[in-house]
Amino acid sequence: MTPAPERSPTTGTLEDKLSQFDEQWAPRIVAELNGQHVKIAKLEGSFEWHRHETADELFLVLRGKLTIELRDEQDCQLGEGDFCVVPRGTEHRPVADAGEAHVLLFEPAGTRNTGDRRSERTVEDLDRL
Ligand code: NI
Repeated sequence: MTPAPERSPTTGTLEDKLSQFDEQWAPRIVAELNGQHVKIAKLEGSFEWHRHETADELFLVLRGKLTIELRDEQDCQLGEGDFCVVPRGTEHRPVADAGEAHVLLFEPAGTRNTGDRRSERTVEDLDRL
């Protein structure tokens, strides 16, 4: 006998999820797998410099444009459909200076949005959609 699966599949529509919030720089969790979170966020303007000591971080642009500024390397310029994986330990700053950008993030559960720093932009408990 094959054991019954512990969970049902997680499925959803990103456009639908994105329509459920307006807050910027406040990622929402849309799925969890293998200890990683799939998040979506709306970004506009500049975030703050930070790094994640133990987590690689994927940015995938769903709408608009996003620059991932990197302290020691060439910036990642991302348009719709473009992605960038920022390696752990790499100091970076997301900047959306051409209007609001919508992005998907994939990173280990518990990864803090401001990385090694805490500030008024730190979001500790992310909402789930
Ligand atoms: Ni980051």
